[in-house]
Amino acid sequence: MRKTGKEIDITQSSNDTSADSRSIRLVTKSNETPEGDGFIVHRSFPSQSIRNLDPFLLLDEMGPLDLLPYETKGFPEHPHRGFVTVTYMLEGRFEHKDSQGNTGELGPGDVQWMTAGSGLVHSEMPEKEFAKNGGRLHGFQLWINLRKIDKWIKPDYQDVPSAKIPLIRTPDGKVSVKVIAGNYHDTKAVINTLTPILYLHFTLQPDSEVVQPVPENFNAFAYVISGNGLFGKDKTPVQEKNLIVFKNDGEYISIGSDNKNPLDVLLVAGMPFNEPVVQYGPFVMNTKEEIDKTMEDYRNGKIGKIEF
Ligand code: CO
Repeated sequence: MRKTGKEIDITQSSNDTSADSRSIRLVTKSNETPEGDGFIVHRSFPSQSIRNLDPFLLLDEMGPLDLLPYETKGFPEHPHRGFVTVTYMLEGRFEHKDSQGNTGELGPGDVQWMTAGSGLVHSEMPEKEFAKNGGRLHGFQLWINLRKIDKWIKPDYQDVPSAKIPLIRTPDGKVSVKVIAGNYHDTKAVINTLTPILYLHFTLQPDSEVVQPVPENFNAFAYVISGNGLFGKDKTPVQEKNLIVFKNDGEYISIGSDNKNPLDVLLVAGMPFNEPVVQYGPFVMNTKEEIDKTMEDYRNGKIGKIEF
């Protein structure tokens, strides 16, 4: 039985939609990779097995990294053009600056949705007061492509503090969800996206389950932050620091926890563009010529400099 539409009562649908629950295409462990000035990230993709997951280009779990007092590891000045970077902090504080003159801070639960568009140069470093005392830095960075028609738009920020991000709890208290992008039932995220994106952070108490509607053509993945999850139609067990990529074979994604531990998991999905992707590091365009032009622009300082 097929169901369509966004407003679906999960309590009803979870009983009769096994035929529509997506199965798993692959599970892959994230790789420790040094980034920035030596900050260790756990990169899920790109990797040898996954070039990208249209429209998603990269997923990094930043840390967790324990900084000593006055130790400052982060992501010093670097450019971006042609896509969106989404930073979601779990622990610690980052400070960002960019070539447009913007500056801001990101603390636990905060999200920065940065549309690089035509390009900018920015830095993301531990915030000064936080760095004095040291502590744990932990978060996520997701890169989302822009369509050809959106690659040259003016850079834009949505800096959203944790308190403004909708947090929903199920009546039985067993599942909570932070709605970073898209919607959970009729609760909509406060962040605007140029193309349809779903970005949810679920916390499941032991022995719980969620069934999330996701349009069948959307590419979708989950990432286990902590705990042991049971994913997809076959309830495949997957442990922390693993990425689960779903097949496009159903309109629901099912996620469960085991009977021992809580489960923290990100669920991300988006409408694919099916456009050519030519990437060179922090530049993502549609053709080799556009990449060459971008490198030239960067060398000539046309993407910007941080002047303060
Ligand atoms: Co960056």
